[in-house]
Amino acid sequence: MSQKRNNDLIGSCARIRSPFDQCVGQIEIMSQSQATDLLALLRKNHHDKHALCDRLEEIADSLPDNLDRHICATAARSIDPILKKAHQFEEEELFPKLAEHNKTRKEFDLILSRLTGEHHEDLCFGEEVRDALLALASDTPVQSADATGYMLRGFFENLRRHMAFEAEIAKSIQFTKTAPELTPSAAE
Ligand SMILES: [Fe+2]
Repeated sequence: MSQKRNNDLIGSCARIRSPFDQCVGQIEIMSQSQATDLLALLRKNHHDKHALCDRLEEIADSLPDNLDRHICATAARSIDPILKKAHQFEEEELFPKLAEHNKTRKEFDLILSRLTGEHHEDLCFGEEVRDALLALASDTPVQSADATGYMLRGFFENLRRHMAFEAEIAKSIQFTKTAPELTPSAAE
């Protein structure tokens, strides 16, 4: 995926953030414990992804002369499982719950479909990064150090932007009200 295409995608999400923010306080029915659990899982997955990004940034900074091939191989093998675990949780648990409680709001479907699309692109990009890192680890690089550094930075910057946007969505869950918590005036 090109950097420009990804920036366009992120930009589109940013442009539709405003109406999303306007309606987040209107999420109506989700138990507080359910919301807390969803937030905890999202934060755990984001923690793992941020750690991966930090490790990839360290590798990029170490190129070309200070590369640790063991770290390179370990990071390469962790990309796919970390991404798939996060994506599975979001697409099978978090996103359906958000969609369910905001089903009258078309912008939600657009936001969630774009995030899901980014997941697919991140997985594909992650495979390219994994292969490049494994080649580096085996001292058989398939491209220049500059090209690998550029690839790594493009990848982890995409992941960080994606997580920043999801963190904004996560804030909305904190305002969730359960049905018994709704006052007559709040329910109107
Ligand atoms: Fe995501």
